[in-house]
Amino acid sequence: MRVLLTAGPTYEPLDPVRYLGNRSTGKMGYALAEAFAAAGAAVTLVSGPVALPPPTSPLITTVRVETAQQMYEAAAPVAPQADVWVFAAAVADYRPASIAPEKIKKEGDTLMLELVKNVDIAATLGQTKRAEQFAVGFALETTNELAHAQVKLRRKNFDLVVLNSLRDAGAGFGYDTNKVTVLDRAGQVLNFELQAKTELARVLVTLILTRFPAVYA
Ligand code: CTP
Repeated sequence: MRVLLTAGPTYEPLDPVRYLGNRSTGKMGYALAEAFAAAGAAVTLVSGPVALPPPTSPLITTVRVETAQQMYEAAAPVAPQADVWVFAAAVADYRPASIAPEKIKKEGDTLMLELVKNVDIAATLGQTKRAEQFAVGFALETTNELAHAQVKLRRKNFDLVVLNSLRDAGAGFGYDTNKVTVLDRAGQVLNFELQAKTELARVLVTLILTRFPAVYA
């Protein structure tokens, strides 16, 4: 089995010394890469800038990128050969419209930034997904979580969507633990307990492999 996995944040440069980023640490994505490799899968891990040690399994090939565009360009050629796609990255939805060639100097009391939309990696690759391929997305919602996640699943052509909880202490960005709900296309909802991201990764990989009998058999 071959797996394509995106993980971590993206950094969108503003000038030579600054960027727009987010608080994703990559822990969940890296734990998933290790769990897939432990299950015998060959993993291409397309990783944004993270402070984690590189994965140790020889089955994991890590491609380091910075921006959403670079993440897309690294993932796109791998996607057709991969059986499973997992989009765990926290991709910046927008980037600065232009990158200042020199450091932006402090002038005036306000600064307006113009942003332009980034490529949606999951949605763009989702349009090319073949029947025997399996896609898993992540979602982080603050209102109408289940309804929004279900819409996201269909819009991006996911087979499963992993909904991150923001309501629970110890879950989400930066923590070593996470609490998620998984939705499938049939509307089935699976709730998982708060647990270590490494343990949750094993549980999610098992779930993905059982949903994927043609390749797992
Ligand atoms: N994603 C992606 N490329 C993007 C944005 C998101 O591949 N440019 C993927 C994420 O990796 C995740 C899923 O899409 O698996 C959902 O990301 P999310 O940020 O929740 O969705 P958005 O489409 O950005 O919707 P919104 O921020 O409006 O909720």
